[in-house]
Amino acid sequence: EKGGYEHFMLKEIHEQPTAIKDTYRGRMLPDEGIIRMAGVDDNLERIANAKRILIVACGTSWHAGLVAEYIFEELARIPVEVEYASEFRYRNPIISEKDVIIAISQSGETADTMAAIKLAKEKGAFAFGVCNVVGSSISRETHAGAYTHAGPEIGVASTKAFTTQITVLTLLALKLAKQNGTISHTEFMTYLQEMERIPSKIESALEGDEHIKMIADIYKDARNCLYLGRGYNFPVALEGALKLKEISYIHAEGYPAAEMKHGPIALIDEEMPVVVIATKKGHYEKVVSNIQEIKSRKGKIIAIVTEGDTEVRELADHVIEVPETLEPLTPLVTTIPLQLLSYHIAVMLGKNVDQPRNLAKSVTVE
Ligand code: F6R
Repeated sequence: EKGGYEHFMLKEIHEQPTAIKDTYRGRMLPDEGIIRMAGVDDNLERIANAKRILIVACGTSWHAGLVAEYIFEELARIPVEVEYASEFRYRNPIISEKDVIIAISQSGETADTMAAIKLAKEKGAFAFGVCNVVGSSISRETHAGAYTHAGPEIGVASTKAFTTQITVLTLLALKLAKQNGTISHTEFMTYLQEMERIPSKIESALEGDEHIKMIADIYKDARNCLYLGRGYNFPVALEGALKLKEISYIHAEGYPAAEMKHGPIALIDEEMPVVVIATKKGHYEKVVSNIQEIKSRKGKIIAIVTEGDTEVRELADHVIEVPETLEPLTPLVTTIPLQLLSYHIAVMLGKNVDQPRNLAKSVTVE
Protein backbone atom coordinates (compact mmCIF):
# COMPACT_ATOMS: atom_id res chain seq x y z
CA GLU A 1 0.00 0.00 0.00
CA LYS A 2 2.98 2.30 0.47
CA GLY A 3 4.10 1.37 -3.03
CA GLY A 4 7.58 0.35 -1.92
CA TYR A 5 8.18 3.52 0.10
CA GLU A 6 9.01 3.44 3.77
CA HIS A 7 6.30 5.93 4.69
CA PHE A 8 3.13 7.33 3.18
CA MET A 9 4.61 10.79 3.38
CA LEU A 10 7.53 9.84 1.15
CA LYS A 11 5.20 8.08 -1.28
CA GLU A 12 2.97 11.13 -1.42
CA ILE A 13 5.93 13.47 -1.95
CA HIS A 14 6.96 11.33 -4.91
CA GLU A 15 3.42 11.19 -6.25
CA GLN A 16 3.34 14.93 -6.84
CA PRO A 17 4.24 14.89 -10.55
CA THR A 18 1.38 12.46 -11.22
CA ALA A 19 -0.99 14.14 -8.80
CA ILE A 20 -0.51 17.50 -10.50
CA LYS A 21 -1.13 15.92 -13.91
CA ASP A 22 -4.31 14.41 -12.51
CA THR A 23 -5.29 17.86 -11.26
CA TYR A 24 -5.00 19.58 -14.62
CA ARG A 25 -5.89 16.69 -16.91
CA GLY A 26 -9.06 17.39 -18.85
CA ARG A 27 -9.16 20.93 -17.49
CA MET A 28 -6.20 22.52 -19.15
CA LEU A 29 -6.29 22.26 -22.93
CA PRO A 30 -3.20 24.04 -24.25
CA ASP A 31 -3.88 23.07 -27.87
CA GLU A 32 -7.26 24.74 -27.77
CA GLY A 33 -6.05 27.54 -25.54
CA ILE A 34 -8.71 26.99 -22.90
CA ILE A 35 -9.21 25.95 -19.32
CA ARG A 36 -12.36 24.02 -18.63
CA MET A 37 -13.60 23.68 -15.05
CA ALA A 38 -17.24 22.77 -14.71
CA GLY A 39 -17.70 24.42 -11.31
CA VAL A 40 -16.28 27.66 -12.67
CA ASP A 41 -17.84 27.58 -16.14
CA ASP A 42 -21.30 27.20 -14.66
CA ASN A 43 -20.79 30.32 -12.54
CA LEU A 44 -18.27 32.26 -14.58
CA GLU A 45 -19.92 35.69 -14.45
CA ARG A 46 -20.48 35.47 -10.72
CA ILE A 47 -16.92 34.50 -9.95
CA ALA A 48 -15.14 36.71 -12.49
CA ASN A 49 -17.14 39.76 -11.36
CA ALA A 50 -16.30 39.25 -7.70
CA LYS A 51 -15.46 42.54 -5.98
CA ARG A 52 -13.24 40.58 -3.67
CA ILE A 53 -12.13 37.01 -3.15
CA LEU A 54 -11.96 35.79 0.41
CA ILE A 55 -9.95 32.68 1.01
CA VAL A 56 -10.50 30.72 4.22
CA ALA A 57 -8.50 27.70 5.33
CA CYS A 58 -6.32 26.29 8.09
CA GLY A 59 -2.74 25.04 8.28
CA THR A 60 -1.13 23.97 5.05
CA SER A 61 -4.28 24.78 3.10
CA TRP A 62 -4.02 28.34 4.43
CA HIS A 63 -0.50 28.47 3.01
CA ALA A 64 -1.86 27.41 -0.38
CA GLY A 65 -4.34 30.27 0.02
CA LEU A 66 -1.50 32.73 0.56
CA VAL A 67 0.22 31.57 -2.62
CA ALA A 68 -3.11 31.94 -4.41
CA GLU A 69 -3.45 35.51 -3.15
CA TYR A 70 -0.30 36.49 -5.02
CA ILE A 71 -1.43 34.60 -8.14
CA PHE A 72 -4.99 35.97 -8.23
CA GLU A 73 -3.91 39.53 -7.66
CA GLU A 74 -1.11 39.31 -10.22
CA LEU A 75 -3.03 37.56 -12.98
CA ALA A 76 -6.71 38.30 -12.44
CA ARG A 77 -6.33 41.66 -10.67
CA ILE A 78 -9.07 40.81 -8.17
CA PRO A 79 -8.43 41.88 -4.55
CA VAL A 80 -7.89 38.88 -2.30
CA GLU A 81 -7.90 38.39 1.45
CA VAL A 82 -6.67 35.21 3.04
CA GLU A 83 -7.98 34.35 6.46
CA TYR A 84 -7.50 31.69 9.03
CA ALA A 85 -10.99 30.18 9.11
CA SER A 86 -10.90 30.14 12.92
CA GLU A 87 -10.24 33.89 13.14
CA PHE A 88 -12.57 34.88 10.34
CA ARG A 89 -15.64 33.17 11.73
CA TYR A 90 -15.41 34.67 15.21
CA ARG A 91 -14.90 38.32 14.34
CA ASN A 92 -18.12 39.45 12.67
CA PRO A 93 -16.41 39.82 9.30
CA ILE A 94 -17.65 42.20 6.61
CA ILE A 95 -19.02 40.10 3.80
CA SER A 96 -21.17 41.19 0.87
CA GLU A 97 -23.06 39.50 -1.95
CA LYS A 98 -20.36 40.64 -4.32
CA ASP A 99 -17.77 38.55 -2.50
CA VAL A 100 -16.67 35.11 -3.52
CA ILE A 101 -15.39 32.96 -0.69
CA ILE A 102 -13.03 30.11 -1.47
CA ALA A 103 -12.61 27.38 1.13
CA ILE A 104 -9.48 25.28 0.73
CA SER A 105 -9.47 21.96 2.56
CA GLN A 106 -7.79 18.66 1.81
CA SER A 107 -10.16 16.66 3.99
CA GLY A 108 -13.18 18.85 3.35
CA GLU A 109 -14.10 18.25 7.00
CA THR A 110 -12.22 20.95 8.92
CA ALA A 111 -14.74 22.36 11.39
CA ASP A 112 -13.57 25.98 11.35
CA THR A 113 -13.40 26.12 7.56
CA MET A 114 -16.87 24.64 7.34
CA ALA A 115 -18.24 27.22 9.79
CA ALA A 116 -16.58 30.07 7.86
CA ILE A 117 -18.28 28.92 4.66
CA LYS A 118 -21.69 28.71 6.33
CA LEU A 119 -21.28 32.21 7.73
CA ALA A 120 -20.28 33.69 4.35
CA LYS A 121 -23.19 31.96 2.64
CA GLU A 122 -25.63 33.41 5.16
CA LYS A 123 -24.37 36.86 4.22
CA GLY A 124 -24.96 36.16 0.54
CA ALA A 125 -21.44 35.40 -0.69
CA PHE A 126 -20.85 32.82 -3.38
CA ALA A 127 -18.98 29.86 -1.90
CA PHE A 128 -16.44 27.87 -3.88
CA GLY A 129 -14.67 24.79 -2.51
CA VAL A 130 -11.22 23.43 -3.27
CA CYS A 131 -11.23 20.02 -1.60
CA ASN A 132 -9.43 16.76 -2.13
CA VAL A 133 -11.87 14.32 -0.57
CA VAL A 134 -14.76 13.77 -2.97
CA GLY A 135 -18.17 14.16 -1.39
CA SER A 136 -16.73 15.70 1.79
CA SER A 137 -18.80 18.07 3.93
CA ILE A 138 -17.21 21.26 2.59
CA SER A 139 -17.55 20.11 -1.00
CA ARG A 140 -21.26 19.61 -0.35
CA GLU A 141 -21.76 22.87 1.53
CA THR A 142 -20.25 25.10 -1.19
CA HIS A 143 -22.19 26.38 -4.24
CA ALA A 144 -19.54 25.07 -6.60
CA GLY A 145 -15.99 23.85 -6.50
CA ALA A 146 -13.06 22.08 -8.06
CA TYR A 147 -11.52 18.96 -6.63
CA THR A 148 -7.77 18.65 -6.45
CA HIS A 149 -7.81 14.99 -7.60
CA ALA A 150 -4.59 14.31 -5.66
CA GLY A 151 -5.76 10.86 -4.58
CA PRO A 152 -5.89 9.79 -0.93
CA GLU A 153 -3.41 11.57 1.31
CA ILE A 154 -2.67 9.31 4.28
CA GLY A 155 0.37 10.95 5.86
CA VAL A 156 -0.80 13.51 8.41
CA ALA A 157 1.67 16.06 7.05
CA SER A 158 0.11 17.47 3.93
CA THR A 159 2.30 17.34 0.81
CA LYS A 160 0.60 16.51 -2.48
CA ALA A 161 -2.59 18.17 -1.29
CA PHE A 162 -0.67 21.45 -1.02
CA THR A 163 0.83 21.42 -4.51
CA THR A 164 -2.41 20.28 -6.12
CA GLN A 165 -4.35 23.00 -4.30
CA ILE A 166 -1.94 25.53 -5.77
CA THR A 167 -2.43 23.94 -9.18
CA VAL A 168 -6.24 24.20 -9.04
CA LEU A 169 -6.07 27.77 -7.78
CA THR A 170 -3.63 28.72 -10.55
CA LEU A 171 -5.99 27.30 -13.16
CA LEU A 172 -8.83 29.25 -11.60
CA ALA A 173 -6.79 32.47 -11.58
CA LEU A 174 -5.81 31.96 -15.22
CA LYS A 175 -9.40 31.32 -16.18
CA LEU A 176 -10.59 34.49 -14.47
CA ALA A 177 -7.70 36.45 -15.94
CA LYS A 178 -8.69 35.30 -19.41
CA GLN A 179 -12.34 36.10 -18.80
CA ASN A 180 -11.57 39.58 -17.49
CA GLY A 181 -8.89 40.32 -20.05
CA THR A 182 -6.23 41.01 -17.44
CA ILE A 183 -3.63 38.89 -19.23
CA SER A 184 -2.94 38.61 -22.94
CA HIS A 185 -3.65 35.47 -24.91
CA THR A 186 0.09 34.97 -25.35
CA GLU A 187 0.71 35.15 -21.61
CA PHE A 188 -2.20 32.79 -20.98
CA MET A 189 -0.74 30.28 -23.43
CA THR A 190 2.72 30.63 -21.89
CA TYR A 191 1.30 29.71 -18.47
CA LEU A 192 -0.53 26.69 -19.84
CA GLN A 193 2.57 25.41 -21.58
CA GLU A 194 4.71 25.98 -18.52
CA MET A 195 2.17 24.27 -16.26
CA GLU A 196 2.55 21.16 -18.44
CA ARG A 197 6.29 21.19 -17.71
CA ILE A 198 5.82 21.37 -13.93
CA PRO A 199 5.50 17.60 -13.35
CA SER A 200 8.88 16.95 -14.99
CA LYS A 201 10.43 19.89 -13.13
CA ILE A 202 9.19 18.36 -9.88
CA GLU A 203 10.77 15.06 -10.99
CA SER A 204 14.12 16.84 -11.27
CA ALA A 205 13.63 18.51 -7.88
CA LEU A 206 13.00 15.04 -6.42
CA GLU A 207 16.34 13.88 -7.79
CA GLY A 208 18.04 16.08 -5.20
CA ASP A 209 16.92 13.59 -2.55
CA GLU A 210 20.33 12.10 -1.65
CA HIS A 211 21.92 15.52 -1.36
CA ILE A 212 19.02 16.72 0.81
CA LYS A 213 19.42 13.66 3.01
CA MET A 214 23.05 14.59 3.55
CA ILE A 215 22.00 18.11 4.59
CA ALA A 216 19.33 16.64 6.88
CA ASP A 217 22.01 14.60 8.62
CA ILE A 218 24.06 17.73 9.35
CA TYR A 219 21.17 19.72 10.84
CA LYS A 220 19.00 17.05 12.44
CA ASP A 221 20.08 18.03 15.96
CA ALA A 222 19.25 21.72 15.58
CA ARG A 223 16.85 23.05 18.22
CA ASN A 224 15.55 25.85 16.03
CA CYS A 225 15.38 26.69 12.37
CA LEU A 226 14.32 29.73 10.34
CA TYR A 227 12.77 29.69 6.88
CA LEU A 228 12.84 32.79 4.71
CA GLY A 229 11.32 33.67 1.37
CA ARG A 230 9.87 36.65 -0.45
CA GLY A 231 6.87 37.13 -2.71
CA TYR A 232 5.46 33.86 -3.99
CA ASN A 233 7.98 32.02 -1.86
CA PHE A 234 7.08 33.65 1.43
CA PRO A 235 4.17 31.19 1.95
CA VAL A 236 6.55 28.39 0.92
CA ALA A 237 8.82 29.43 3.81
CA LEU A 238 5.84 29.19 6.18
CA GLU A 239 4.98 25.79 4.81
CA GLY A 240 8.59 24.56 5.08
CA ALA A 241 8.66 25.59 8.74
CA LEU A 242 5.31 23.93 9.45
CA LYS A 243 6.49 20.66 7.87
CA LEU A 244 9.61 20.62 10.04
CA LYS A 245 7.68 21.44 13.24
CA GLU A 246 4.95 18.91 12.82
CA ILE A 247 6.98 15.83 12.01
CA SER A 248 10.40 16.41 13.59
CA TYR A 249 9.26 18.56 16.57
CA ILE A 250 12.06 21.02 15.90
CA HIS A 251 10.97 24.58 16.50
CA ALA A 252 10.86 26.40 13.18
CA GLU A 253 9.51 29.73 11.99
CA GLY A 254 8.89 31.08 8.54
CA TYR A 255 9.26 34.79 7.77
CA PRO A 256 9.20 37.08 4.79
CA ALA A 257 12.94 37.58 4.28
CA ALA A 258 12.69 41.35 4.65
CA GLU A 259 11.15 41.01 8.12
CA MET A 260 14.39 39.53 9.46
CA LYS A 261 15.76 42.89 10.39
CA HIS A 262 12.66 43.72 12.39
CA GLY A 263 13.38 41.12 15.03
CA PRO A 264 14.24 37.55 14.08
CA ILE A 265 17.79 38.51 13.07
CA ALA A 266 18.53 38.68 16.81
CA LEU A 267 18.26 34.90 16.87
CA ILE A 268 21.02 34.32 14.35
CA ASP A 269 24.24 32.74 15.54
CA GLU A 270 26.41 29.80 14.48
CA GLU A 271 23.83 27.39 15.92
CA MET A 272 20.98 28.61 13.74
CA PRO A 273 20.23 26.98 10.42
CA VAL A 274 18.39 29.31 8.05
CA VAL A 275 16.66 27.90 5.00
CA VAL A 276 16.38 30.60 2.36
CA ILE A 277 14.40 30.33 -0.84
CA ALA A 278 16.53 32.28 -3.28
CA THR A 279 15.37 31.38 -6.76
CA LYS A 280 16.33 33.66 -9.64
CA LYS A 281 12.99 35.32 -10.21
CA GLY A 282 11.33 37.43 -7.58
CA HIS A 283 13.52 39.94 -5.77
CA TYR A 284 16.61 37.78 -6.17
CA GLU A 285 19.09 40.54 -5.35
CA LYS A 286 17.14 41.43 -2.23
CA VAL A 287 17.26 37.84 -1.06
CA VAL A 288 20.98 37.74 -1.75
CA SER A 289 21.48 40.71 0.55
CA ASN A 290 19.38 38.97 3.22
CA ILE A 291 21.70 35.99 2.87
CA GLN A 292 24.69 38.27 3.38
CA GLU A 293 23.13 39.59 6.57
CA ILE A 294 22.75 36.05 7.90
CA LYS A 295 26.25 35.10 6.86
CA SER A 296 27.85 38.04 8.60
CA ARG A 297 26.17 36.84 11.80
CA LYS A 298 27.50 33.31 11.25
CA GLY A 299 24.12 31.68 10.63
CA LYS A 300 24.18 28.44 8.65
CA ILE A 301 22.60 28.93 5.24
CA ILE A 302 20.73 26.29 3.29
CA ALA A 303 19.59 27.94 0.08
CA ILE A 304 17.06 26.76 -2.47
CA VAL A 305 18.37 28.14 -5.76
CA THR A 306 17.66 28.01 -9.47
CA GLU A 307 19.72 25.48 -11.43
CA GLY A 308 23.05 26.95 -12.46
CA ASP A 309 23.06 29.68 -9.81
CA THR A 310 26.54 30.84 -8.85
CA GLU A 311 26.00 33.96 -6.74
CA VAL A 312 24.22 32.32 -3.80
CA ARG A 313 26.44 29.24 -4.04
CA GLU A 314 29.38 31.39 -2.98
CA LEU A 315 27.61 32.59 0.14
CA ALA A 316 25.56 29.62 1.30
CA ASP A 317 26.76 26.61 3.28
CA HIS A 318 24.56 24.35 1.15
CA VAL A 319 22.57 24.90 -2.00
CA ILE A 320 19.71 22.81 -3.30
CA GLU A 321 18.92 23.37 -6.96
CA VAL A 322 15.47 23.42 -8.49
CA PRO A 323 14.57 23.96 -12.17
CA GLU A 324 13.63 27.44 -13.31
CA THR A 325 10.00 28.22 -14.02
CA LEU A 326 7.66 31.21 -14.31
CA GLU A 327 7.67 33.16 -11.08
CA PRO A 328 4.04 32.46 -10.05
CA LEU A 329 4.68 28.74 -10.50
CA THR A 330 7.89 28.58 -8.44
CA PRO A 331 6.15 27.44 -5.22
CA LEU A 332 5.32 24.18 -6.99
CA VAL A 333 9.01 23.36 -7.28
CA THR A 334 10.58 25.14 -4.28
CA THR A 335 8.23 23.30 -1.90
CA ILE A 336 9.64 19.89 -2.88
CA PRO A 337 13.10 20.10 -1.25
CA LEU A 338 11.54 21.50 1.94
CA GLN A 339 9.20 18.51 2.18
CA LEU A 340 12.14 16.13 1.69
CA LEU A 341 14.31 17.96 4.21
CA SER A 342 11.73 17.67 6.99
CA TYR A 343 10.97 14.10 6.04
CA HIS A 344 14.60 13.00 6.32
CA ILE A 345 15.21 14.89 9.55
CA ALA A 346 12.13 13.31 11.15
CA VAL A 347 13.16 9.82 10.02
CA MET A 348 16.71 10.31 11.32
CA LEU A 349 15.31 11.43 14.66
CA GLY A 350 13.18 8.31 14.80
CA LYS A 351 9.86 10.18 14.81
CA ASN A 352 6.56 8.78 13.65
CA VAL A 353 6.50 10.56 10.30
CA ASP A 354 3.06 9.50 9.13
CA GLN A 355 1.34 9.98 12.46
CA PRO A 356 3.04 12.73 14.39
CA ARG A 357 2.08 13.12 18.03
CA ASN A 358 -0.94 15.27 18.89
CA LEU A 359 -2.05 15.65 15.27
CA ALA A 360 -5.03 14.27 13.37
CA LYS A 361 -5.56 14.06 9.64
CA SER A 362 -8.84 15.83 9.77
CA VAL A 363 -9.59 18.38 12.44
CA THR A 364 -13.31 18.17 13.07
CA VAL A 365 -13.12 19.84 16.49
CA GLU A 366 -13.19 23.62 16.88
C1 F6R B 1 -0.26 20.27 7.82
C2 F6R B 1 -1.59 19.77 8.03
C3 F6R B 1 -2.63 20.65 8.64
C4 F6R B 1 -3.81 20.77 7.67
C5 F6R B 1 -4.96 21.55 8.31
C6 F6R B 1 -6.10 21.79 7.33
O1 F6R B 1 0.58 19.34 7.23
O2 F6R B 1 -1.88 18.65 7.68
O3 F6R B 1 -2.11 21.91 8.93
O4 F6R B 1 -3.36 21.39 6.51
O5 F6R B 1 -5.42 20.86 9.43
O6 F6R B 1 -6.65 20.59 6.91
P1 F6R B 1 -7.62 20.52 5.68
O7 F6R B 1 -6.86 20.93 4.48
O8 F6R B 1 -8.07 19.10 5.62
O9 F6R B 1 -8.76 21.48 5.94
